[in-house]
Parts: sequence; structure tokens; C-alpha cells
Amino acid sequence: MKKILLVIFSAVLFTVSFGSNKIYVGTNAEFPPFEYLEKGETVGFDMDLVNEIGKIIGKEIVIKDMGFDGLIPALQTKKIDLIIAGMTATEDRKKAVNFSEPYYSANQVIVLNKTNKDIKDFQDLKDKKIGVMLGFTGDFVVTDMGYPSEKFNAAFAGIMALQSNKIDAVVLDSETANNYIKKNNNLKLAEGKGEAENYAIAIRKTDEDLLNEVNSAIKTLHENGKFDELLMKHFK
Ligand code: ARG
Repeated sequence: MKKILLVIFSAVLFTVSFGSNKIYVGTNAEFPPFEYLEKGETVGFDMDLVNEIGKIIGKEIVIKDMGFDGLIPALQTKKIDLIIAGMTATEDRKKAVNFSEPYYSANQVIVLNKTNKDIKDFQDLKDKKIGVMLGFTGDFVVTDMGYPSEKFNAAFAGIMALQSNKIDAVVLDSETANNYIKKNNNLKLAEGKGEAENYAIAIRKTDEDLLNEVNSAIKTLHENGKFDELLMKHFK
């Protein structure tokens, strides 16, 4: 009996001191082709990338889907260990979290109905009804220009409002915008583009080890061709 208790006790101690082998990954699965739901499963470039990283660092990846603006708070309160969500490594966010090496570069673009003739660039958005996604960099870009905007909780909702003419334009990340344009032939992009933004994985400031592991895994994936393979799969 004593022996059994001792074995149980050691097993408990082991798990407590070495932690579990799981990494809780926060995302917001409304951002195709980086993350989106397909038959109830979270799929996309970021999901494949983080699973490859998990294989290299020997951790099981557990995805937690939540609102985009809840991701950084969830990381800080340890509900998740890492964020991969097409998240731009902005100076403001760098105050709260650490970012991995960038893994993708994008920019803000303006999505319009094909019938729109008067919006060519960001300055033309003045006095227009602009849709943005709450807490996305597009939201900050439009706010910084001093324009009011209507906030949506998902890119899809903004695109729907545009298609039903409730708004004149949606400011959104380029890849996701292209994704919607390919699927809706009544939509187009304006000519003007915003500055380049770098997507990176966010990790708690105190988790230096995890940051180093993730960075070296990203390096490995670039070297062994896996990264390019994923790009081909999701951005052809
Ligand atoms: N790149 C933009 C940002 O960092 C939008 C990211 C949205 N990502 C998502 N999974 N919903 O704010």
C-alpha cells in the first residue's frame, strides 16, 4: 500500500514540476487563409505552422479559439501560452508581449464593391462609411487617420455589410481581403495600400525559453523546406 501511494505521489510530483506536455495556443479562427473553421475544425496556414513547431519542440498543440481582442489578455493571464493569429507585431503590442521572428508580411488594403468609382486610396475614405474589425490593425490605421468607423467582430461580418451597401469600404489585411475577393466577384480592391506589417507569434514576456524554442523551430522549418511547402499549400 505504501509503495503504491509513493508511486502515485511521485507521478503527481513529476507532472506538477515538469508541467504538462501541452501548449495552449490562442487564435481567432475568422481570418482565412491563416485560420478559419472548416467542418468545426480550426484550419489554415497558422494552424499548420504551429503544429509543425509543436512537432519540433516536442509539445502537443491545443487550439483555443476566441475573440481577437481577447487574445493578449488571455496570454497575460496564462489561459494560453502562445498566440498565432496573423497578429501584426506592432510597437504597442510589443509593450505587452514578446514576438517571435516575423513569419509573414502583409499590409492593409481597402475592399470595395465593384460598382464603387470614387475610392482609390486611404485619403478618399474621408466622409465615407468605413468598416473595420475591432482591435485589428486596420481599426488602428483608420482611427489614426482621424476617421470614424463601424466596428465588426469578424471580417466576414464587415464584408457582408459592404455587400449589402450598409458601408462603403472595409479596411482589412491583404491576404484575407484577397481571399474574400476571390470568392465574391462583386468585390474589388482599391489601388492604395498601407505600410507593410509583420505577422509574428506572441509569447509571454516571462517565457524566454519558449520564445527561443519557437524561433529556432521557425528557422528549422525555413531550412528544411517545410515553411515553403505550407506557403504553397495556402497561398497558391
Ligand atoms: N494583422 C491584423 C492585426 O494584427 C489582423 C489579424 C486578425 N487575425 C485574426 N486571426 N482574426 O491586428
